Amino acid sequence: MKFDVQDCRLVSKKQLTPTIFSFMLEAPELAEITLPGQFAHILVPGKTLRRPISVCDVENGCIRIVFEIRGEGTRILAELEEGSTVNMIAPLGKGFEIPEGKKVIFIGGGIGVPPMLYSAKKAGSSCAVINGFRDKSAVILTEDFRKIGCRFVETTDNGSYGVHGFVTGPLEEMIEEYDMICACGPTPMLKNIAAAAKNHGKECFVSLEQRMACGVGACLGCAVGIRRDDGSVTYKHVCKDGPVFRAEEVAW
Ligand SMILES: Cc1cc2nc3c(=O)[nH]c(=O)nc-3n(C[C@H](O)[C@H](O)[C@H](O)COP(=O)(O)OP(=O)(O)OC[C@H]3O[C@@H](n4cnc5c(N)ncnc54)[C@H](O)[C@@H]3O)c2cc1C
Ligand code: FES
Repeated sequence: MKFDVQDCRLVSKKQLTPTIFSFMLEAPELAEITLPGQFAHILVPGKTLRRPISVCDVENGCIRIVFEIRGEGTRILAELEEGSTVNMIAPLGKGFEIPEGKKVIFIGGGIGVPPMLYSAKKAGSSCAVINGFRDKSAVILTEDFRKIGCRFVETTDNGSYGVHGFVTGPLEEMIEEYDMICACGPTPMLKNIAAAAKNHGKECFVSLEQRMACGVGACLGCAVGIRRDDGSVTYKHVCKDGPVFRAEEVAW
């Protein structure tokens, strides 16, 4: 695993919704080696533990992150001004590996949408994207995904924008036309996607979220249950062995 610790300049900050922010962090060397689905471990001023945030995109020597204010750490991050220095360890973890020629459906749910942008951009116009949100006020990154030029569907749970219902509705309609599914979002959504993929005999990879401390496999803080071939459960690190896992090996 190749990564580095760097002080990066916050070159652009945008507010996407009242609680979601987009940061462009200047880090040319790190940007060059970052793969879709990997994450950055961000040092929050005044906090000891770093916060893991997925790489949303890589552009012009910058790593883009998009994060939601969930607690104290992300609130402090959101208050940083353009020009500030942000210390990050990146790129971390194992991301989505897309074999050449495979037709992939990328699915993001809520704040699980950002990591799908770089992944779908890398896959190009032959992929499909389904992004699901609670309601219209939570919808993010629409224009960025449109630019990819791929099949693109947005859903909201309450029908206030896009297709009414969960991402699994459009997934069921298009799944037979694709080879593989990659998803990131809330656990119930991932479980349902994994079940649909299994029913249709499709490969499925999911990006899991877990509380983290070190971020590099040294503290056991981020253990997740993984099923062995014989059905017994072992534990792996979300930070080092993941965050992307084969859906059928996750002990949900
Ligand atoms: C691999 C990965 C990728 C992620 N990508 C994104 C993303 O792209 N955008 C986004 O908005 N969020 C993302 N998250 C979730 C994000 O890390 C948490 O929302 C954030 O750490 C919460 O910090 P806080 O201080 O604001 O919240 P608080 O709940 O106040 O945090 C309290 C404590 O819990 C720890 N903690 C809380 N939640 C998490 C968590 N999920 N993981 C690790 N530590 C946690 C913090 O380190 C802190 O010590 C990701 C999480 C993981 C594991
Ligand atoms: S966060 Fe320390 S082992 Fe994963």
